[in-house]
Amino acid sequence: PTALSVALLGGGTVGSQVARLLTEDADLFAERVGAPLHLTGIAVRSLDRPRQAAVDPALYTTDAEALVEDADIVVELMGGIEPARSLIERALRRGAVVVTGNKALLARHGAQLSALAAEHGGSLDGEAAVAAAIPILRPLRDSLAGDRVHRVMGILNGTTNFILDRMDTDGAAYDEVLAEAQRLGYAEADPTADVQGHDAAAKVAILAGLAFGGSFTIDQVDCTGIAAITAQDSAAAAEAGLVVKLLGIAERQVDGAVLRVHPTLVPREHPLAAVRGAFNAVFVEAENAGELMFYGPGAGGRETASAVLGDVVTAARHRVLGSAMRADRAGATAGPPALPIT
Ligand code: NDP
Ligand code: HSE
Repeated sequence: PTALSVALLGGGTVGSQVARLLTEDADLFAERVGAPLHLTGIAVRSLDRPRQAAVDPALYTTDAEALVEDADIVVELMGGIEPARSLIERALRRGAVVVTGNKALLARHGAQLSALAAEHGGSLDGEAAVAAAIPILRPLRDSLAGDRVHRVMGILNGTTNFILDRMDTDGAAYDEVLAEAQRLGYAEADPTADVQGHDAAAKVAILAGLAFGGSFTIDQVDCTGIAAITAQDSAAAAEAGLVVKLLGIAERQVDGAVLRVHPTLVPREHPLAAVRGAFNAVFVEAENAGELMFYGPGAGGRETASAVLGDVVTAARHRVLGSAMRADRAGATAGPPALPIT
């Protein structure tokens, strides 16, 4: 079968792990997809930085536009709105498969980009954009498609949970722990998105769109981050048998939905209190399914790469199956070769 070309936009915390896994596990992906995945290049800002050792250094380029030009699959892990948005649009207009982890982009332009994908016969997926390794978008979109979701709530940002957890357990200073979260690859390129709650707010908007239908943007989320929380607040909460957690909440109401992010005092015995480090947890309340809980790593390069590659394999497999079916139909239309008349 013909190989599918993969253009990777971004070779940072997550992109470097995606590139490594596409290289090291090439045989596994070929088997799962039904065709080899051929990594054609990795767009970065600077060619001078040290890069992932397992990846061919010749793959790095600063020409992202050229890279997306003829790729079958574009994986966007640059972050930010531009140039990510224009590059994704360019790929979608050609009917390419696009996979992204960019919640900031999806929470502003997701609906428009999905429409563009549908219009041109491509696809857009972003499982990694919410709660990293935890499968949550696909369950909401597919597994709960026959139910009515009333509420989605949880810890949606690994960096702030890591900070609050450390404040709670060893009274660590906010700035020190934030620097550690950055070093571990949990924080956004601009960590104010994490601490001010904007990253969680983007995720709430994406979750609400899938849970309730319709499209929501980050501007509809009422948002307070953790910047004002001190080690003293954390200690006072602990004395009262409580722990501070940054929660994201989307609730269906008669006349729409209420979306919010804010620090919350959670009783120690509540399951959310047990979510430690950069882990996330998402509770879903559905009319017939009842209460569901999704839990796991909410940040980190390797963990997020798992979700990105899940989307890549799924979409690539559809593409391979689609071509095989088209080839079958073309054969059927043409009919059997005519018998020579003797
Ligand atoms: P990083 O900042 O580590 O990496 C970004 C990469 O994109 C870098 O390689 C950078 O190049 C490249 N890049 C940025 N801007 C440009 C540009 N204009 N042109 C070319 N290359 C560019 O980010 P992460 O890997 O942490 O995150 C990537 C995406 O995944 C973001 O949308 C983030 O929100 C999302 N995400 C991240 C998670 C995590 O745990 N880190 C989890 C879930 C989602 P250079 O290396 O030269 O600077
Ligand atoms: N900065 C994000 C977080 C990455 O800490 O949750 C995962 O989306």
